[in-house]
Amino acid sequence: MTQSVLIIGGGSGIGWALAQHYAGCDAKVTVISRQPARQHRAINWLQDSLSTEAASANLVAEALRQQPDTIFICNGVLHDDSAMPEKTIRQLDTDILAARLASNVQVPARYMKLLFSYLCKQPQVKLLALSAKVGSIGDNALGGWYSYRISKAALNMLIKNLSIEVGRLNKTAAIVSIHPGTTDTELSAPFQQNLPAGQLQSPDATAKRLASVAAQLTAEQTGFLLNWDGSTLPW
Ligand SMILES: NC(=O)c1ccc[n+]([C@@H]2O[C@H](COP(=O)([O-])OP(=O)(O)OC[C@H]3O[C@@H](n4cnc5c(N)ncnc54)[C@H](OP(=O)(O)O)[C@@H]3O)[C@@H](O)[C@H]2O)c1
Repeated sequence: MTQSVLIIGGGSGIGWALAQHYAGCDAKVTVISRQPARQHRAINWLQDSLSTEAASANLVAEALRQQPDTIFICNGVLHDDSAMPEKTIRQLDTDILAARLASNVQVPARYMKLLFSYLCKQPQVKLLALSAKVGSIGDNALGGWYSYRISKAALNMLIKNLSIEVGRLNKTAAIVSIHPGTTDTELSAPFQQNLPAGQLQSPDATAKRLASVAAQLTAEQTGFLLNWDGSTLPW
């Protein structure tokens, strides 16, 4: 049973639902987010402006005092005020690509580096990075969404690499990427028309599904890209 959980990027629609879910299960919950603290009696909120790695390191050290057995990294941007996802490479703006690589890969990579020693020594520790099915190279039949797909594919490689390195020292760690399923958040809001009935989940429902996959995660799955139901997706 999860007793202590750390949710990085916990200001996200899904991350905040995860935090509330685990708080409701009486787990210790720590959130790291760029956003100002949200008041909740059972959630410890640490604001990280991401200004320097040293500042992030202090916050991660503080969060690890709670000895999390389960860690989620939720950071991920599909669109913002400056750009929607590309339909064709003609729309590719390399500055936007760099921005997506920063939020979707660089920031998770910073936290993974800072978590590395802990992951190497904590028995049965679980790390789940929220990725996306569209980041699967093998599953890509439609194309488009260049910057998001590229950045999530890179995140998946980051997770695979980390799982190998941690696995040399900690055979009980489980480090995976996971597609949370289409969830009603700001990220998916512009793309919710024409979804097949039943595909769009509430953040609460997604949080329950992710917590269930996390609870059943084993070291044999380390390095995998998982779907929201715990099944394995192709890289
Ligand atoms: N919703 C879906 O249908 C869906 C589908 C597939 C995959 N996902 C993935 O699930 C995760 C959570 O998504 P969500 O739907 O809950 O989206 P959301 O509510 O839009 O959350 C955005 C997330 O990205 C972080 N973020 C935003 N701008 C950033 C920046 N400039 N630098 C670093 N981090 C930044 C936020 O962290 P702060 O807490 O610091 O604000 C937050 O964790 C994402 O990784 C997303 O790719 C979502």
